[in-house]
Amino acid sequence: MKIATEKVTKRFGDLVANDEVSIEFGAGAIHALLGENGAGKSTYMAMLYGMLEPDEGTILFDGKPVELSGPPDAMAAGIGMVFQHFMLVGPFTVAQNVLLGLEPAELTGVDEEAMNARVAELADRYGIQIDPRARVDELSVGLQQRVEILKALARDVRVLILDEPTSVLGPEDAQALFVVMRKLAAEGKTILFVTHRLNEVRQVASTVTVMRHGRVVGTCDPSADRDEIVALMLGESKPLSLTYAPPPRRGKTEVLRIRDLHAAATLGSGLRGLELSVRPGEIVGVAGVEGNGQRELLRSLIGLTRPEHGTISIDGHDVTDAPPAERTRLGLGFIADDRHGLGMIGGLSVSENLILTRQRRFTKHGLLDFKSIDSDVAARIREFDVRLSSPQQLIGRLSGGNQQKVVIARELARELKILVAAQPTRGVDAGAAHNIHSQIVALRDRGVGVLLLSAELDEVLSLSDRVVVLAGGVAAPAAARPWDRQAIGAAMSHEHPEAVRGSHDG
Ligand SMILES: Nc1ncnc2c1ncn2[C@@H]1O[C@H](COP(=O)(O)OP(=O)(O)OP(=O)(O)O)[C@@H](O)[C@H]1O
Ligand SMILES: [Mg+2]
Repeated sequence: MKIATEKVTKRFGDLVANDEVSIEFGAGAIHALLGENGAGKSTYMAMLYGMLEPDEGTILFDGKPVELSGPPDAMAAGIGMVFQHFMLVGPFTVAQNVLLGLEPAELTGVDEEAMNARVAELADRYGIQIDPRARVDELSVGLQQRVEILKALARDVRVLILDEPTSVLGPEDAQALFVVMRKLAAEGKTILFVTHRLNEVRQVASTVTVMRHGRVVGTCDPSADRDEIVALMLGESKPLSLTYAPPPRRGKTEVLRIRDLHAAATLGSGLRGLELSVRPGEIVGVAGVEGNGQRELLRSLIGLTRPEHGTISIDGHDVTDAPPAERTRLGLGFIADDRHGLGMIGGLSVSENLILTRQRRFTKHGLLDFKSIDSDVAARIREFDVRLSSPQQLIGRLSGGNQQKVVIARELARELKILVAAQPTRGVDAGAAHNIHSQIVALRDRGVGVLLLSAELDEVLSLSDRVVVLAGGVAAPAAARPWDRQAIGAAMSHEHPEAVRGSHDG
């Protein structure tokens, strides 16, 4: 199916989120939509899926103007969409989720076996690896995404819209997704997807459209020069590479010390005797594939999970059983990999989110000092280039990448001893990622310890002073710089990472 828009405009109050956007998507195309955070990508896709109504302009399916009064209209026309936030029913199986809401006639007698077989067949056809019998809440994010895609395919979509599908995936899951995308395109389906990673565009896209400030600024070949695409996105060319420089000073006393930590698995291996430490003024990178203890490590560090065994101390204080607030008071900063669950409060304004956990600093004689709050908030917004209409705007109304910038701006504003940063640049554009990286390095140079977890090996290797590989619930130190990528990659794919014993941890 051919799908197109002609001069589509969408406003939110005074803000023009989409300004006369005209794009055509051919059948069988894998069409990437690029642009800075807040450029209007999600807004555009939401209109194609009938979730938002254009103020002006026309949406055309196969050349005919259509009016979509909601997602059911879009689905009926053969459009499917996978959001970043999955809409799955946790306690149900994969097959139940995939077939949920389809014609009751098709679920004759709710025959489990028939349902499983049908979903297995569908998955097979597109080379999607999944167990139809598995319970969805026991699956990793990557597998849950496959369920969402199967849901769309079971409805026989002809156009599949994916909003930042890879930002929640590790490299292996991303590659598996590309294989599926290519298969779908080869069948003549149209795929529209957003990404902030330019290498992915080159790998999988057949066409690229770049948006800036709500407008289309160009369409180009995916093989175009990286700098050229970035310049198009930003409207200027900025150098975006960070050269590694060793820390000016590295303290001796550990700001974070983890000894023999065991935690029950919520996904994958859990923790099985993790040893890890971070000193002031160093960035320790944790490389590894999701499901090897990452989730349990983060939850134990912030105090959401009580470990079965072992100790955690922050700046010399044992916090193994301490509540989250106590850890914050001792100087723990935390950038969550799931900003919606842990990082922000969607129903509060940007300004309120920026001072969360820092209120004490703005209290004078027992009252909040709004003047100093306003000036602090303005400074934070400037420093992290958060795009918004007003600091009083609800954070939930910001674009995804701009929400992430707010969470980071708040955490880095506190007096920290140790920053735990999980996927800090998830969903932010290239310019913002560069800014966040520079800020993390600046923090390190001021003597703060940083524990960096990222599914992107490049991010870990470019920023870290030391790297450990988390595999099977234990950490193995990688040898010193220059990193041996192959050895690190091999350790990541093994249950027992003894293979890369190099320098000593701690
Ligand atoms: N419901 C809403 N109310 C008010 N403003 C909104 C709403 N939804 C989006 N916006 C604004 O519209 C602009 C475009 O947002 P959109 O989410 O489309 O950006 P995006 O290109 O998807 O960015 P990102 O890469 O960060 O996801 C932003 O300035 C955003 O704050
Ligand atoms: Mg978006």
